[in-house]
Amino acid sequence: MVVYFSATGNSRYCAQMLADRLGDSLTDAFHFIRDGIRPELTSISPWVFVAPTYSWQMPRLFQEFIRNGGFSGSREAYFVITCGGEAGAADKSLKAICEEKGMAYRGMWEVVMPDNYIIMFKAPKQEEARRMIQAARPVIEAGAEYIRKGESFPDKKKKWMDSLKSGMVNDGFYRFFIKAKGFRVTESCIGCGKCAQSCVLNNIHMEQGKPVWGNTCTQCMACVCGCPVGAIEYGNKTQGKERYQCPPYEG
Ligand SMILES: Cc1cc2nc3c(=O)[nH]c(=O)nc-3n(C[C@H](O)[C@H](O)[C@H](O)COP(=O)(O)O)c2cc1C
Ligand code: SF4
Ligand code: SF4
Repeated sequence: MVVYFSATGNSRYCAQMLADRLGDSLTDAFHFIRDGIRPELTSISPWVFVAPTYSWQMPRLFQEFIRNGGFSGSREAYFVITCGGEAGAADKSLKAICEEKGMAYRGMWEVVMPDNYIIMFKAPKQEEARRMIQAARPVIEAGAEYIRKGESFPDKKKKWMDSLKSGMVNDGFYRFFIKAKGFRVTESCIGCGKCAQSCVLNNIHMEQGKPVWGNTCTQCMACVCGCPVGAIEYGNKTQGKERYQCPPYEG
């Protein structure tokens, strides 16, 4: 079973393509995480966990989802991580999760896709994003091939900075950088409520037809990038920047 979390669609695209190539079933972690429901899933085929990179790790909320979830049947776990550049030494904590859960770690496969983190960087324009997704497809195919053959993904060659980035920098990122304060809505808001529905942490509610943010945010970018009229800003960091949404997977 392919199980995924995705905020702006890259990991969903990847998961859909993997499930398609493997003839496997697909489960979205969104509602389990949002509604605080412990998953009780069973699969005879290997588990394939797909998610983005947040500061050179899989998102903590997805790691917790796997750690605390019930995944019975197959004891094999593959991890596919989408990223805007690279995922550093994200594999270390994934191996640790497998050890905790008595699962056989079958490797981490990196797929470079458009960067959605517009609080810090710029997302590519639509045409460039489409080109990047086309370039990612053979990488996803190659990942599916390893799984189909029952082989582990090859180990990633590490650079000396990777452990630092996925370790200390990741800790600092969650402690000092991820802040819920800073979101605001502009006059163009049409009150559709999509932002509130798209928040995996249920951190947005509507008040008098406008979104209001609470204090729990993981900066996934679903609200900012998913607003149909681009009415959400984060301080002045997102102003004038392209909003990113992965186009739908069409086979
Ligand atoms: C909070 C946050 C942190 C990110 N950190 C990294 C990173 O460390 N390395 C990287 O290559 N991409 C990073 N990205 C980019 C995303 O991992 C990438 O765009 C991913 O494919 C988005 O997946 P999604 O569309 O499924 O949400 C980050 C994005 C966000 C929102
Ligand atoms: S998604 Fe955009 S338009 Fe819709 S309620 Fe949220 S801010 Fe307003
Ligand atoms: S409030 Fe934070 S966690 Fe919720 S959708 Fe927006 S960026 Fe993601």
